[in-house]
Amino acid sequence: MEKVVRFGVSMNGSLARRFDAMVKRRGYDNRSEAVRDMVRRDLIREEWEDPNSEIVGTITLVYDHRIRELGDRLIDIQHDHHDLVISTTHVHLTHEHCLEVLVVRGRARSVSRLADRVVAVRGVLHGQLVATTTGKVFKAGATGHKRIH
Ligand code: NI
Repeated sequence: MEKVVRFGVSMNGSLARRFDAMVKRRGYDNRSEAVRDMVRRDLIREEWEDPNSEIVGTITLVYDHRIRELGDRLIDIQHDHHDLVISTTHVHLTHEHCLEVLVVRGRARSVSRLADRVVAVRGVLHGQLVATTTGKVFKAGATGHKRIH
């Protein structure tokens, strides 16, 4: 088992009180648990900032299917990036609204661009990419896949 490293953290009283309130609110057993989660989250975010690292996650969309050509546009974009989209789930939320979840995997830069494109489609009311890194890093410059379009 890996050795546990202990270190002290200094902060002013008001920040410490806010932190303790957050620890309680989120249901952590202690401060260390909360700090570990924050460190992990920030490390993942940093890896994301390497546009060549591979990420896997979901793009969640809520849209109004009554808007003309919206569905077709979303499908066209997904087919343009079929190498990134592993699967999709569609839920007819209400009479007007659809929820769609795209499971995506690929280079961080490419997946982020795909998310930006689908979220920007007119009629998409909400869209968000949630992802984590796989630990794999693509070679800079290589596309990592063949384009058939
Ligand atoms: Ni629907």
